Amino acid sequence: MNARFHALRLMRFGAIALGTLLPIAIPSFAATTGSAAPAAKKNLTFTRDIAPIFQAKCEECHRPGTAAPMALVTYEQVRPWAKSIRQRVLTRQMPPWHIDKNVGIQFFANDRSLSDDQISTIVGWVDAGAPAGDLKDMPAPKQWPGEDEWQLAKQLGQPELIIKSEPYTMPAKGQDVWWKPMNVVQLDEPRWVRAVEIRPASLAGRKITHHAVATLETDEPRKTAADDDDDATGMPNPGGILMEWAIGKQYDVYRENSGKLLKPGDRIRWDIHLHADGEQTRDHVELAVYLYPKGQEPKYKTILTNWGATPRGSRGLDIPPNSIFVTEAHHVLKQAARLENYQPHMHLRGKAMAMEAILPDGTSRVLNYVNNFNFNWMNNYIYTDESAPVLPKGTVIKITAWYDNTRANPNNPDPNQWVGQGDRTVDEMGHAWVNVTYLSEEDYNAWAAAHKPKRAPKNSAETAVAAGTAN
Ligand code: HEC
Repeated sequence: MNARFHALRLMRFGAIALGTLLPIAIPSFAATTGSAAPAAKKNLTFTRDIAPIFQAKCEECHRPGTAAPMALVTYEQVRPWAKSIRQRVLTRQMPPWHIDKNVGIQFFANDRSLSDDQISTIVGWVDAGAPAGDLKDMPAPKQWPGEDEWQLAKQLGQPELIIKSEPYTMPAKGQDVWWKPMNVVQLDEPRWVRAVEIRPASLAGRKITHHAVATLETDEPRKTAADDDDDATGMPNPGGILMEWAIGKQYDVYRENSGKLLKPGDRIRWDIHLHADGEQTRDHVELAVYLYPKGQEPKYKTILTNWGATPRGSRGLDIPPNSIFVTEAHHVLKQAARLENYQPHMHLRGKAMAMEAILPDGTSRVLNYVNNFNFNWMNNYIYTDESAPVLPKGTVIKITAWYDNTRANPNNPDPNQWVGQGDRTVDEMGHAWVNVTYLSEEDYNAWAAAHKPKRAPKNSAETAVAAGTAN
């Protein structure tokens, strides 16, 4: 890898990191401290100003028949929650989107966060007494897919394949259960997957399913450097993980010309984590598979990778009582790669997680930082085609996780416990799920050539970044 390409990469990162610093620093600061309310707007009403925002950013979850605690569609439904809504949107807990807006890459294909302007509109409206407004300003009701429709149906239609796990009856009370049934893939010939969606089949099931991981088992021998990296995936088989589903996560759509290969006889091994919620529930988890047309073969294979935040997988995690604890681990890219998403995973003590790229010349950039991790929300931050970081061979991915085992953490069941690594919700773990697409050296070089910075650095800070990496 020659130095010129490193310089190009870093200038691109430099532009991303620096460009996002200035415009949004102040509102986000106000949001996280909750102290300074944004400047008040005048004459705000529910029907004209608030309903369109709620249709766009809240109804997806807050409508009749979903797992959310209340619907936020009509004025009558919304009004009693006004105070709580103000607090949740100002602290950016709602909509659930917990990435630090001042650090790293900020363009995501599935961004559901509110803009600073939308936050100040909602806050201003609540502060003005949450008036209803004129009914004729109310936008037409938004149409939503039914409970048993696939989220992806809107863009991709019906899946070619639906794989259903064996059902399980979860009692009303009891210990957490890890249900690990298996399915054999029913296909006549190898087919490439372009998108997957996982869901517990029923609404009741969605309330008790903490996560569901579908691992792909195949008899194919290892072939590429990427497949060989079982240090990174923790998966001693070349199929890798097909998809991980957790509360708040919906689907994976692979980027153009990339996907996963399914072959007749491959097996889907489930790992379904169930958590009793006071009612007996029988349900199964189902996986919708969207295939590329027959004979169409994408160039790249995307591998869902589990990058641990502790050395030796998740072993070695040992959190003393009443303490803030940090772990970090490093993973070397044995081939150039594009990272498609970032999804931190921790349990109840999880506080924050950073993903950083240390380039072969030793310089580094924080790609993303979730500063406000919330166990209830395993948000998956999916990069856009343009924002997905492309990294040279030899880049070290550093994952750092912070755990809060003090009473300041509202999710902490007991700050006096010593907490170790484990699967139960009350045990801890720290890793990032990242879909990694490995690129050939030629493709990486072509990408770097096509992404030369278009302009000279505009200010001294950017010049410093560019100059510091040009040698
Ligand atoms: C991805 C799904 C999702 C989206 C989008 C979402 N919410 Fe929520 N919301 C939930 C769920 C589930 C809960 C209950 C669990 C929790 O509090 O995290 C919740 C809780 C809340 C609460 C707290 C209710 C209580 O019990 O006090 C408020 C207020 C709220 N949401 C408002 C909003 C607003 C306003 C929006 C849009 C600007 C929004 N939410 C968008 C799923 C969502």
